[in-house]
Amino acid sequence: MNISKRVKQIEKSAIHEMTRLSKQYDDVAFLSWAKPTSGTPKHIDEAAISAIKKGLTGGYSQNDGLPELREKIVKKLKRDNNIKTNISELLVTVGAIEGLAAAVMATIDPGDEVILPSPTYSTHIRQVQIASGKPVLVPLIEDENFALDIDAIKNAITPRTKAILYCSPSNPTGTVFPEEKLRQIAEIALENNLMVITDEAYEYFVFDDKKHFSIGSIPEMKKNVISTFTFTKSYAMTGWRIGYLHADEEIIPQIKKAHIPFAICAPVVSQYAAIGALKGSQDCITEFKEHYLKTRNLMCERLDILDQVFSYNKPEGSYLMFPKILGEQGKDSIAFSKKLLQEAKVSTTPGIAFGPTGESHIRLSFCVPESMINKAFDRMEKYF
Ligand SMILES: Cc1ncc(COP(=O)(O)O)c(C=O)c1O
Repeated sequence: MNISKRVKQIEKSAIHEMTRLSKQYDDVAFLSWAKPTSGTPKHIDEAAISAIKKGLTGGYSQNDGLPELREKIVKKLKRDNNIKTNISELLVTVGAIEGLAAAVMATIDPGDEVILPSPTYSTHIRQVQIASGKPVLVPLIEDENFALDIDAIKNAITPRTKAILYCSPSNPTGTVFPEEKLRQIAEIALENNLMVITDEAYEYFVFDDKKHFSIGSIPEMKKNVISTFTFTKSYAMTGWRIGYLHADEEIIPQIKKAHIPFAICAPVVSQYAAIGALKGSQDCITEFKEHYLKTRNLMCERLDILDQVFSYNKPEGSYLMFPKILGEQGKDSIAFSKKLLQEAKVSTTPGIAFGPTGESHIRLSFCVPESMINKAFDRMEKYF
């Protein structure tokens, strides 16, 4: 088979493998999916249905997205991210993922190095590999709730370093990188002329006294940041495939050159749904957040009982956490997850899926009903 080296080097996703295995069993308790289990709010569905009925959804839109949607995003970025912008600095994308992929394709040449504080969302690693770039995984400090290691990031910079790519709030660790640390990242980027590419998918899901900070709000960073966002998590719109990115107006046309061959434009029906999401009540975001706070607390309480098996950092954001597997059985997270599935019917994601620094961990997702968490932990308590 004539398959490119670029694609051949990509390893099979451990997440999809666990999903495939989970389907072989009945009545599995799922803690392995990072997608909201609540449905899309009705008013968003209605906005899409109305656009279909009006005959607005059959053609392509502008490559960068419907102007009406971008106008609404301009307002949202000002209100929630302190980013002052205009529609020429926005690109509507097929979820955050296509935006990130286009951003990486637009900035990375073969052999360029991209620093990824890790463990990190495995898709980011793959996006760098597909662009023939080199992912440089810089460990987070686990003992400080997976904090950014600023010195390690500085030390990882070489003449080939082109970008730093991070997600905060983090998948898989649930960490929220504080403003102070992100300002240090900004300084490093400016000193070394690096691009910072952000994934802010979980921007609204931050707990306790933590705050989400968008590095794109720092005026000096204007030409050094590409910020990506999505409707997937905030409005439970996983299947609509709709997100957007923000960058300087000179950078957007370059990213568009990567966006067009992969997507032409984001799905138009979903763009209308997204307009509905931004126009309508934002209460759903608060409701989701309140639910995740409850389920986070429940998951932590249940983990406390299993303190011989796991240690953990309390997630500050997202709806994910990354407990460490204690003892010998932590040496192989894939074997651990598989055994847990086969013998206790609990589906988790092996930590190695998030890079080598993720080994000895599992990722657990709390974007599920409380009953699912209780079911999974009842089983684990019996099992261990
Ligand atoms: C950090 C992160 N970014 C992006 C995505 C996917 O975003 P989208 O559906 O907008 O492509 C996910 C989904 O799990 C995620 O965890």
